[in-house]
Amino acid sequence: MRAVVFTGTGEFEIQEREVPRPGFKEVLIETAAVGICGTDVHVLDGEFEGTEYPIVPGHETSGTVLALGEGVNDGALDLAVGDRVVVSPNTFCGECEFCFTGRQNLCPFWSGMGVSGADGAVQETFVAPARNVFRLAPGTDLHQAALIEPLACAIHGWDVLPRRLGDHVLIYGAGTMGLMMAQLASRAGAASVTLVDLNEDRLRVAEECGIELRHTSADDAAREKWEVVIDCTGSIRAIEDALGRVKVGGTFHDFGVAPADQTARFSPFRVFRQELNIVGSMAYHNSFGRAVEMFEAGAIDAAPLLSHSFVLDDYAEALAMFREGRGRKIQIRPNDTESRVLLAC
Ligand SMILES: NC(=O)c1ccc[n+]([C@@H]2O[C@H](COP(=O)([O-])OP(=O)(O)OC[C@H]3O[C@@H](n4cnc5c(N)ncnc54)[C@H](O)[C@@H]3O)[C@@H](O)[C@H]2O)c1
Ligand SMILES: [Zn+2]
Ligand SMILES: [Zn+2]
Repeated sequence: MRAVVFTGTGEFEIQEREVPRPGFKEVLIETAAVGICGTDVHVLDGEFEGTEYPIVPGHETSGTVLALGEGVNDGALDLAVGDRVVVSPNTFCGECEFCFTGRQNLCPFWSGMGVSGADGAVQETFVAPARNVFRLAPGTDLHQAALIEPLACAIHGWDVLPRRLGDHVLIYGAGTMGLMMAQLASRAGAASVTLVDLNEDRLRVAEECGIELRHTSADDAAREKWEVVIDCTGSIRAIEDALGRVKVGGTFHDFGVAPADQTARFSPFRVFRQELNIVGSMAYHNSFGRAVEMFEAGAIDAAPLLSHSFVLDDYAEALAMFREGRGRKIQIRPNDTESRVLLAC
């Protein structure tokens, strides 16, 4: 069994490993697809607090159940060999004040498969705790289903926003996350959604996803202010621009991950005088099950989001493409025989 292993800061190799055995209440899964996201790059570059090398990356994953450990079906679960599944990659301590008050994603011991703690899924097979495994409906596209983890983040992103029928929504960033937030907007009651991205190629993807109002600058939009403004770039420039576009009484959502050492400027007077709200959301929280259900119901148009799949041997190429901002969502498919272009873009 082969695995991509991050061995130190900026270093990785492909290793031959024993197929792991699932322990008590654990499941062995054959990996179908693993999405690459910015977090993987931060883990490799040594920028993620809590990472200990060696670690196998990969947390946006899907696969097929190969074996069940003891006790998996003793409680509420009903998993079987051959089930198509996705895996919620995050774990928490269950003992701290945040876990006890139902805010497990804020647990100081929060940890993620492929990020800190357990190995991730960029390997032919991997083991996951059974309680983190979600069974898919039989007809679900297993490769596209690796988008369920980011969808769970987008749903939590909407959970922290006030939802009022008829609000107008402005989103910065037409990457995977901005496109998912935009596709969910109408379900959250939005009257319109405007998407801004500096990159025209990304706006073309937005068009394929059915987002009608697309601009390279919010200055070009027909409106001047929006009740809800969401940053999905992590760029200070975008965030500062976004804060100025929030309507009186409206809400700004800091969804993108800005560099930890940077600050943005805004007018505290305006926040006071116009009763603006500023909210954040961290990963997902009680939204993974809903993400599975909504994905299966077609809540997002998944096909335009995926552009390339790579085999394990081409991991370096996949990572380079990701770092250059080329393509759309790039996946690793460890059990495929060749790398593929899924969408010419
Ligand atoms: N809050 C969460 O739980 C959570 C979860 C996943 C990802 N994220 C974060 O969300 C952000 C988006 O993730 P993604 O995977 O879609 O990333 P991405 O890199 O694919 O997309 C970001 C997009 O923003 C655009 N952009 C950059 N600067 C801009 C600017 N000044 N104005 C307009 N557009 C600009 C880029 O062209 C790009 O298309 C990242 O910061 C990521 O770390 C947050
Ligand atoms: Zn991710
Ligand atoms: Zn905790």
